Parts: sequence; C-alpha cells; structure tokens
Amino acid sequence: MMYKAKPERYADMKYISCGKSGLKLPAVSLGLWHTYGEATPYATARELTLRSFDAGITHFDIANNYGPPPGSAETTFGKILKDDLMPYRDELIIASKAGYRMWDGPYGDMGSRKYIIASADQSLKRCGLEYFDIFYHHRPDSQTPIEETIDALKHLVDRGKALYAGISNYNAEQTKAALEAAKAVGLKILIHQVNYSMFNRGAEADLFRVLDEYGVGAIAYSPLAQGQLSDKYFNGIPVNSRAGGVSHFLNPDAVTPEKVEKAKKLNVIAGRRGQTLSQMALAWVMRNNCVASVLAGASNFGQMDENAGFIQNLEFDAGELAEIEAILL
Ligand SMILES: NC(=O)c1ccc[n+]([C@@H]2O[C@H](COP(=O)([O-])OP(=O)(O)OC[C@H]3O[C@@H](n4cnc5c(N)ncnc54)[C@H](OP(=O)(O)O)[C@@H]3O)[C@@H](O)[C@H]2O)c1
Repeated sequence: MMYKAKPERYADMKYISCGKSGLKLPAVSLGLWHTYGEATPYATARELTLRSFDAGITHFDIANNYGPPPGSAETTFGKILKDDLMPYRDELIIASKAGYRMWDGPYGDMGSRKYIIASADQSLKRCGLEYFDIFYHHRPDSQTPIEETIDALKHLVDRGKALYAGISNYNAEQTKAALEAAKAVGLKILIHQVNYSMFNRGAEADLFRVLDEYGVGAIAYSPLAQGQLSDKYFNGIPVNSRAGGVSHFLNPDAVTPEKVEKAKKLNVIAGRRGQTLSQMALAWVMRNNCVASVLAGASNFGQMDENAGFIQNLEFDAGELAEIEAILL
C-alpha cells in the first residue's frame, strides 16, 4: 500500500540543535546497524522505518558495512526510500560512514582519501541518493595523517555529496587533532558519534569537554548498551535477543549477573519516575549538554515506540542522580 506520512508526525518529538549549528536532530534517532540486513524480512525494516518517521524520528544512521552482509543495510534503506520515503527527502537526515573494512585490499578500509571517497560513492549508489546529510569517518586511523582524512571529508562536502561532516570513535586527543585540522582547511565538523550509556561512560572523562569547547554536537550510540539497559535480560537470555544469537556483537557472556543486578536496581528508580528502564537510560544520556540525540536501535517498532517515550520525562533531581551514580559505581 502506498505510504503517506502522518500529518501530525512532528507533534510529539523534541528537536535539539547539534552543537553550535543550525541543524536540529530529533531527541531519538534510529540506527540501522541491525534489522536491515538480509536476514530480516523487508517488511519488518520498512515498518520500523516508516512508523519511526511517523513518530517524528527524522534521522536515520547507516554505515557502509552494516548488514550482514556489508552494504545490505544501505540497499534495504535505499529500497525503502525509493518505495516510500523519497517524497519526504527534505524532511530526512540520512547519515552514512566509512572507516571499517568494506572490500579487499589496502583501499577498502581505514582513513585514506582513496577509501573514503570511493566508499561514499558506493554508499550513495546503494541508497539511491545524490547526497548524505552527514558523512562520518567511522574510526580513527593512526596510519593515515589526519589532514588526509579531513581532506577527504572536505572533498565530499565541497562536491555536495555530504552536507555535513562527522567523526566517530575518536578519543578526546584524536578529536582535538581532527577539529584543528578541519579548522585549518575551513571544514566544520558538525558531530561526533560516540559510544555512551550508563554502562559505558568513557566520554565523560575528556571527550565531552572537547566537544563543548569546539561547539561540536554529540550523538550517543548504543545508549541502551545493546539492550542491556532494558528489562529483557532480567530472567535469562531470550533466544530472540541480541545476546541470544541474533548478532555476534553482543556475546551472552557480556550480560553478566552484576550488570543484570544493576539494571534491576535502576529499573526500580525508573518505575518511580513513571518510565521504563530503557526510557530512563535514554533520558540519562541526554542530561549532557553536548548530546543532541540518542542513537538507538530496535528490532521492531514496538521497542522504538517505547524508547521514543523517554522525552516525556527528561529531568532528574539531585537525589535520583546520586542514587543512579551509587548503582553504576
Ligand atoms: N559509530 C559506531 O562505531 C557505532 C557502533 C555501534 C552502533 N552505532 C549506531 O548506533 C545505533 C544503535 O546501536 P545499538 O543498536 O547498539 O543501540 P541500543 O539502542 O543500545 O541497542 C538496540 C537493541 O536493544 C534492544 N532494544 C531496544 N529497545 C528495546 C526495548 N525498549 N526493550 C527491550 N530491548 C530493546 C534491541 O535488541 P534485541 O531486541 O535484538 O535484543 C535493539 O536492537 C546503530 O544502529 C548504529 O547506527 C554506531
């Protein structure tokens, strides 16, 4: 059936400026790392995308290597665009990335100009797009001078293949070097995509300070620690979960009794706040000024619908924060 977006799709979402820029991101964005590969029925990916857009989620995040197999998430999303979403192209923020191994040989990985530009062109083709809204370098590369990687991102922006540039997984020092290199050639780095959640707080040490100093926005990926910050592992590991074998990126051993215990204690606080644990975990991530959006994943729209409800209660009082801190220690 032909898709027509809900007229009231913007009513219940919050849009937040990404760093010091004019670009606003939805408080929750949808990541296509899982659920868009060849193992997932197209109808599932389509429903998740379209209902998310109907809920005001305007930002969709992909990478060249998402699938499996690599490239298939972009192909799936490209089909959804072609079948349904292209009339809404100007209402969408679509991001992709290059930085992990994508093809054989020395030019299909890391941070050279050769790889980044070729990969971006391939990604545009798979998605059937003329440009990405954001294009990221996916991870730092110690063997390529940062000036070369930045030059490749600038090339994409100058040619209109990307409207904004971003970096991901760079630590504070690498980020500073990248931002200085970008400043030197007049490229604005809009955004940093960082692994950040209640269970992964590395960014708090230095990175957020650097982003604040340079006016760069953060988007927090895996904000639910791949589902561990929900109630799904309270009674063991369900077979149809990420840790249960849906993906090899979350080993069942990673879901330790200590983490489950912490999640259960956090769940009690969430209940008092009138939220589910996943909603509270997302609200907690957003308490950092530089975080413009949480980049969540979902295996179905029900999860995304629940997650998006987190914006109903974003405030924490000092007592709640102290209690959460004591659990996370
Ligand atoms: N830049 C990078 O290097 C990088 C790395 C990783 C991810 N990312 C980006 O970040 C996005 C999100 O990452 P992520 O998928 O790890 O995020 P996440 O939000 O921490 O985890 C999502 C997973 O948690 C489970 N889940 C979500 N909502 C739930 C709910 N309400 N109740 C119970 N379970 C729930 C689902 O897994 P199951 O139902 O299958 O258990 C879902 O697929 C990715 O799609 C990608 O775009 C970027």
